[in-house]
Amino acid sequence: MFGKNRTAMVIGAQWGDEGKGKVIDYLTPDADYVVRFQGGNNAGHTLVVDGVVHKLHLIPSGVLYKGKRVVLGNGMVIDPEVLISEMDNFESKGIKLNMLISERAHVILPFHIIMDGMIDEYKGKLGAGTTRRGIGPAYADKAERSGIRMIDLMDTKIFREKYDQLFDLKKKTLKCLYKENIKLNKEEIFRSYVNFAKRLKPYVGDVSLEVNTAIDNGKKILFEGAQGTMLDNDHGAYPHTTSSNTIAGAVCTGVGVGPTKIDSIVGVVKAYLSRVGTGPVPTEAKNRLGDHLRERGQEYGTTTGRPRRCGWVDLVQLRYACRVNGLTSLAITKVDVLGGLKKIPIATKYKYKSSYITELPADLNLQRQCKPVYKELDGWKDISDEEFKKIITGGYKELPKKMRTYLKFIEDQTNTPISLVSVGAERTSTIEVKE
Ligand code: GDP
Ligand code: IMO
Ligand code: MG
Repeated sequence: MFGKNRTAMVIGAQWGDEGKGKVIDYLTPDADYVVRFQGGNNAGHTLVVDGVVHKLHLIPSGVLYKGKRVVLGNGMVIDPEVLISEMDNFESKGIKLNMLISERAHVILPFHIIMDGMIDEYKGKLGAGTTRRGIGPAYADKAERSGIRMIDLMDTKIFREKYDQLFDLKKKTLKCLYKENIKLNKEEIFRSYVNFAKRLKPYVGDVSLEVNTAIDNGKKILFEGAQGTMLDNDHGAYPHTTSSNTIAGAVCTGVGVGPTKIDSIVGVVKAYLSRVGTGPVPTEAKNRLGDHLRERGQEYGTTTGRPRRCGWVDLVQLRYACRVNGLTSLAITKVDVLGGLKKIPIATKYKYKSSYITELPADLNLQRQCKPVYKELDGWKDISDEEFKKIITGGYKELPKKMRTYLKFIEDQTNTPISLVSVGAERTSTIEVKE
């Protein structure tokens, strides 16, 4: 995957949950570092290795390989309690953590979580159906310059100064705006965060310095995206997005590496589509086939357990993802889930009133009303695990012809080559596409 490249990035090309974790885990052997650059524990990345399921929310997906350095960049918002429980979980499995956390990453506090739920609830139809992990309010504090960074947490005096102000500000805000009396114990939270700081301190450092030095010394870096293009705060389906930039460019601000150091960008695409949360999704299949995809693909949120809304690949959306991310290749996942379908619809454009739309609209009104125009491609027979094992050994050319036609159609329509095909959740159920 790396070849002569110094860095590679894996990001979600759709609405999140495309299988980024699996792809990262597969590619990690070629990397020295796996680095996350945005989001927090709204992410849920699932890895399956030898039948064992690992769920990750904050620690990068390279963690299962011995010696790989896993890094949490400054663009992230980190709930220390969640991070520590994830660390405990891996350490209890005998996995030694080689981890670096950016001193500039922001900290999620309990009132962020309370506010997240209240604000999203208040917004109703204009909400995003957030994961209720405090992500939006933590990023809002960062933008407003009231946030607490990892480095602040490490210094009890500074933490006290900033925490006192922030807690009081939140208390007043909640009371004035939402008529809520905050029921949190200020001192208890303070004490527990001071304890979290003690546990995290050995891992906290200057991420930009270390990652840039590593690149200059010939180390290979894999950047791990969270969420997906349509959840990007600028380029996604705003306001039904997350609160960070999720597209490829975010790695520059989220780690502190220059754009000249980004070599390849792999967009992960589910062979159909899923979305968890609120807002228009033009190609959602609110019918028996949508239910079939959900059950067959086990489309239930890794973070919240919510049923995912399922539908079909949307080429208007995908071409847009290729453009805003500058994707150099696609990794298509969950192709196995489509087995046994007679026809597979794929949206090539939208219809709005009497006109056709081929570029993704920013207009919420258009997003709500446009209807997908589908081309139907032939499906292929269901393939058993045993058959897939043989196919994987033989490589891409062994895939059924109709499956290859479907994949080629996506490739042609997006003008982006496919570099990887995933046909099962297991690490080994992966086919690299050689040029
Ligand atoms: P992420 O957030 O992008 O990392 O994706 P998630 O882990 O939230 O969701 C993807 C789900 O699909 C996980 O349960 C994976 O184990 C599973 N998965 C990944 N690739 C494949 C595949 O090719 N086939 C099947 N059947 N499952 C897959
Ligand atoms: P991974 O990394 C899918 C969605 C939520 C909601 C919106 C905002 O596993 O692909 P937030 O809690 O971020 O403020 O919620 O974004 N969302 C995700 N959907 N996968 C994710 O992450 C997501 N992270 C957030 O459902 O609609
Ligand atoms: Mg996920």
